[in-house]
Amino acid sequence: MDKNKFMRNRDDSESAKVIAFVHHKGGTGKTTSCLNIAGWLVKMKKKTLVVDLDPQGNATAGLGVDRNTVDGSIYDVLFGQKDIEETILETDSCIHLAPSSLDLLATETHMAGKVNNTTIIREKLGKIEKYFDYILIDVPPGSTLLMINGIIASENIIIPLDSGIFAYETMETLKTLLIDLDEEIGVQTNVMMALLKGYPISIFDRGPTREIKKLLKKFLTANVTSDVRIFTIPFSRKVYKAQMKGKPISHYAPHSGVGRAYRKIAKEILTIDD
Ligand SMILES: Nc1ncnc2c1ncn2[C@@H]1O[C@H](COP(=O)(O)OP(=O)(O)OP(=O)(O)O)[C@@H](O)[C@H]1O
Ligand SMILES: [Mg+2]
Repeated sequence: MDKNKFMRNRDDSESAKVIAFVHHKGGTGKTTSCLNIAGWLVKMKKKTLVVDLDPQGNATAGLGVDRNTVDGSIYDVLFGQKDIEETILETDSCIHLAPSSLDLLATETHMAGKVNNTTIIREKLGKIEKYFDYILIDVPPGSTLLMINGIIASENIIIPLDSGIFAYETMETLKTLLIDLDEEIGVQTNVMMALLKGYPISIFDRGPTREIKKLLKKFLTANVTSDVRIFTIPFSRKVYKAQMKGKPISHYAPHSGVGRAYRKIAKEILTIDD
């Protein structure tokens, strides 16, 4: 882990593309997708920062960083105690990280009365966008000020979903949230893609996931945007193992099924960018 290396080696004339991983439902694969896509983007020579906005700190741990030992977190940045540059680390997989801390749990209470409390992250990232090609924000579940900050800071959102029985219903709720953001604070979000987390089923039993994918496609086309792509991520124990080792799948098992699935998604992101 190295600090502040990110200031070097980049043509500063362009700004990063900022993408948030969003779903108010817990456990849909936001953090896993954020880290695994970041890993591939780095392997594709893109300078990438992960911003861990979640008090759970899963993105921080998933990159092998012990948040109890970090010198400053996104909490300190939110409340003006540190510049964001001071908190950024380069992790072993070369992904840069703005780490979370447990203090983030108190954010809602502390931010509630503040002016412009939905645009703080956008403002802070504005200062460092020139150093990165991509900034990926791991947004916590729920419908909180941190979540809204993550969405407002991003030009694009990626929606990870699980393919369980309630997946379709939760899309309705998410749609309502996006409409509210647009109507209440004038934020229009571009849904870049949806990622459907596969279930631990045998290859002979992919029917239910396919069925949900079809329904989602119909729903997204009718309600969100007509050309949104949906990728299915296979279930794999390698995902757990990689996370236990503090590595993205691109660095742990790049040639596995799940490794290749995330590679395809990262490539698609680069294509959208061109
Ligand atoms: N493709 C996969 N195969 C197997 N397990 C997976 C896969 N994707 C995610 N998981 C596991 O599912 C669990 C939830 O994933 P993850 O933490 O990424 O979801 P999340 O949406 O970030 O959750 P939260 O809302 O709590 O932040 C984790 O234990 C993760 O290891
Ligand atoms: Mg998460």
